[in-house]
Amino acid sequence: MIYSKIVGTGSYFPERILTNEDLTKIVDTNDQWIVERTGIRTRHICAENETSEDLGCFAAQKALEDSGLSPSDISGVIFLTFTPKFRVPSAAVYLQNKLGLPNCFAFDLNSACTGFIQGISVASDMISTGKYKNILVASGEKLTSVTNWKDRSTCILFGDAGGAVVLQASDAPGLRSYNMHSDGSYSELLHINDDQVLTMKGNEVFKVAVKSMGDAAEQAIRDAGLTLDDIDIMIPHQANIRIMQAVAKRVNLSMDKVMQNIERRGNTSSSTIPTALDEGIKTGRIKRGDNILFAAFAGGFTWAGALLTY
Ligand code: UT7
Repeated sequence: MIYSKIVGTGSYFPERILTNEDLTKIVDTNDQWIVERTGIRTRHICAENETSEDLGCFAAQKALEDSGLSPSDISGVIFLTFTPKFRVPSAAVYLQNKLGLPNCFAFDLNSACTGFIQGISVASDMISTGKYKNILVASGEKLTSVTNWKDRSTCILFGDAGGAVVLQASDAPGLRSYNMHSDGSYSELLHINDDQVLTMKGNEVFKVAVKSMGDAAEQAIRDAGLTLDDIDIMIPHQANIRIMQAVAKRVNLSMDKVMQNIERRGNTSSSTIPTALDEGIKTGRIKRGDNILFAAFAGGFTWAGALLTY
């Protein structure tokens, strides 16, 4: 069996920080409501000319350096985004060129907030065939390019970020399990509308998100042949601290085992999990050998879970 292990991580946040106080000047809201209802205090937002592709490239550059590999070692790029600047060429090809990766495939995967789990799952299966050795999975989400700044129930949630990992073929686990699901009958509850801005019926999404992420997390543990006691840390998609608390309660995990970066970063879609992972590793909270539980939920709806030994 060929597993995939993570040999490098990176994240990138734009310089500009938008505080809850700043948002009170844009919409009718207040710091207390945002903190109590979402857990968010600040988020990073792109400069006008910065793109999702840039965010992913900066993060990928760091992940590549972290891995110690050279550009010619990379056999493929999977770029996660639903906010690319251009539809063609893909963001993945932009990254391939920008980082000077000489021999690799490159394609985008659009699954919004579920993108990272889907990306590492696809990459891991490709590696397991023996055909590819090192695959770069990078996310870049400029959510502020699709934010409706007149809608106080959504504009307070989002931030911009890029995250990346390098997955490498390994004899030892690795990604031990993953599961992916979809139900398009919910598409109206969370989507980009005709005006090209994100619209969401937040409280309806909330309930389905808790159940779906909880189920996906439990399935990931079961499919890996492990139990709850084996889990060192959970990294859920960072949509709302109350969703994370409810999911943790549902799967019976205490909150001190849940990694969160939503307080400072907001909801950055497919970048939430890789950036939280990178921050966990770089701060020493996540160590080699730790069993990490992932769960995510997104517009579609799509949802996914995975279990990875770091
Ligand atoms: O990442 C993909 C998946 N996304 C998610 O999973 C997000 C899921 N949803 C959520 O995180 C939450 O539903 C929100 C944070 C979006 C909203 O929180 P909520 O507790 O569900 O609030 P609500 O929509 O039920 O609104 C409660 C009240 C309303 O006022 P009334 O009708 O009770 O008078 C809203 O108008 O809060 C009001 N409200 C606000 N007040 C101050 C909504 N947004 C704001 C705001 N500031 N920014």
